[in-house]
Amino acid sequence: MLASRQFARRLATRNRRWASSHAATPALNQVTEEDLAQFSKILSPQSILSTLGSNSVASSELEPFNNDWMGKYHGDSTTVLRPHTTKEVSEIVRYCNERRIGIVPQGGNTGLVGGSVPTGRGEVVVSLRSMNNVRHFDPVSGTLVADAGCVLQSLTDYLAPHNYIMPVEFGAKGSCMIGGNCSTNAGGVRLLRYGSLHGTVLGLEVVLPDGTILDQLNTLRKDNTGYDLKQLFIGAEGTLGIITGVSILTPPAPQASSNAVLALPSFDSLLPLFQRAKRELSEILSAFEYIDRGAYELSVRHGQGRGLSPEESEGAECFVLIETSGGRREHDEEKLSNLLEGLLSEDKPLINTGVLSQDATQFASIWGLREGITEAVSKEGKAYKYDISIPLSAFKEVVDATRERLREKGLLRPDAVKEVVGYGHIGDGNLHLNVVAAKYTPEIEAALEPFVYELVGKYKGSISAEHGLGVMKAHALHYSKNEVSIEWMRRIKSLFDPNGIMNPGKVLPPPDGTHEPSPENTGTARIA
Ligand code: FAD
Ligand code: MLT
Ligand code: ZN
Repeated sequence: MLASRQFARRLATRNRRWASSHAATPALNQVTEEDLAQFSKILSPQSILSTLGSNSVASSELEPFNNDWMGKYHGDSTTVLRPHTTKEVSEIVRYCNERRIGIVPQGGNTGLVGGSVPTGRGEVVVSLRSMNNVRHFDPVSGTLVADAGCVLQSLTDYLAPHNYIMPVEFGAKGSCMIGGNCSTNAGGVRLLRYGSLHGTVLGLEVVLPDGTILDQLNTLRKDNTGYDLKQLFIGAEGTLGIITGVSILTPPAPQASSNAVLALPSFDSLLPLFQRAKRELSEILSAFEYIDRGAYELSVRHGQGRGLSPEESEGAECFVLIETSGGRREHDEEKLSNLLEGLLSEDKPLINTGVLSQDATQFASIWGLREGITEAVSKEGKAYKYDISIPLSAFKEVVDATRERLREKGLLRPDAVKEVVGYGHIGDGNLHLNVVAAKYTPEIEAALEPFVYELVGKYKGSISAEHGLGVMKAHALHYSKNEVSIEWMRRIKSLFDPNGIMNPGKVLPPPDGTHEPSPENTGTARIA
């Protein structure tokens, strides 16, 4: 422990020196009534929600924009702007840049790292939810061009009659928006099959921090004409500009999809099972998700979905959800049942039992079991969520080590930490380590951080596999990126946004180079 503290101190010193070449974050101004008058020259009165001015609303009306999905991060913005067009976004941003007012772009506000809520710097929230039209769809190529504020599920519904699906899918689909998905480079349960948004997004329309509209809304699959600027905004979490339009390649809907939930006697069966599933199901394997016992029980207890009966799940150390998607139902189902039968008939079976979905309701229920874990966790308590990339073989070890750490600290008790669970995307090497607490407390946070980040560092993993850094992990970036990379990230940020108006306090560590979480850089002062 002493060694790691010394290491952290050494890093901090080194980074302070390193950071001296950077200007301090420019000061930002609070929104005033005069600013509001200017915003009302750009937007209709219905598009402005503010606790200031003659049309002021109660601060409770701004709560859904000021508080994050987990109830962990709380902002205090006085003003939310809801533009309908890219031109309106551009005019708002140009004005805020001139006046040095911070902007928090917001989609569905389902982010899990506090990136989508203000940090007490007087920012305005620019909500994209009124920009929700599909601009174009080509049923031959499958290219969809949509406003950034289109809800993911509504795009799925739009595509269904054309026999196409969105390449990204996850539990927040009913609220998250395609602009937010691109800004976080969301992963989800289909990444194994369709790859990341860095591959499927063909073009973006972005309002840059000075108000300029960067129109790169290409629908071309191939375009090797120099730097691929759009990639910078995918995963930038709103720190480089506001995405207003997205062009995305959508895959044809599979003719048949099946799923199964399997109960494993021990974690040791997981990797051989994954290898076997890849080999035997090959091109039809579309998801391979991991659920440990604790996460499974939480999901069942909170009624998120069903799969196995209590007898069937008894004695299992962990569970797997397998999905197949292919062109011919009989062929795919035969492959999946052959796999399951083969697994069960071995001398030392890799699974205890498994249930194959028989109809659409059961299919949805099995997915509910997995996709509903996030909601189950938040029904159970307050979640410390660590979304990490580590070697598959270390998934259980990391959950166990974290639980042990909390036990040693005397925090594993019903009024502090209730549970430590793990689940995630085996196909992508992405574990979701969740610590479910009765409430957020500095004591629990201090026991977990930097402990978890150091553990991830030990495996040369990533502290954020798919949720981003937001405000939660900005100070911890050095666990996953070296100094040269962070320096070039800073340069890119100051090139695009020299006044630091775009989503201040997110993604990049504070300019003084400290790596300690502080109320300013983690929002902990405002933790519930
Ligand atoms: P928001 O939460 O509103 O914003 C997220 C970030 O993007 C913020 O930094 C915000 O400033 C920025 N942003 C939003 N819109 C724009 C824009 N138009 N231009 C520029 N910046 C913008 N994530 C995964 O990766 N995989 C999962 O499987 C997954 N499952 C989830 C399940 C549940 C139940 C929940 C609640 C969340 C889950 N998430 C998952 C996290 C989250 O839903 C995703 O990160 C999602 O992509 C965020 O989209 P959003 O529209 O809600 O964005
Ligand atoms: C998931 O895979 O369920 C999501 O990333 C959300 C979460 O981590 O809870
Ligand atoms: Zn996930």
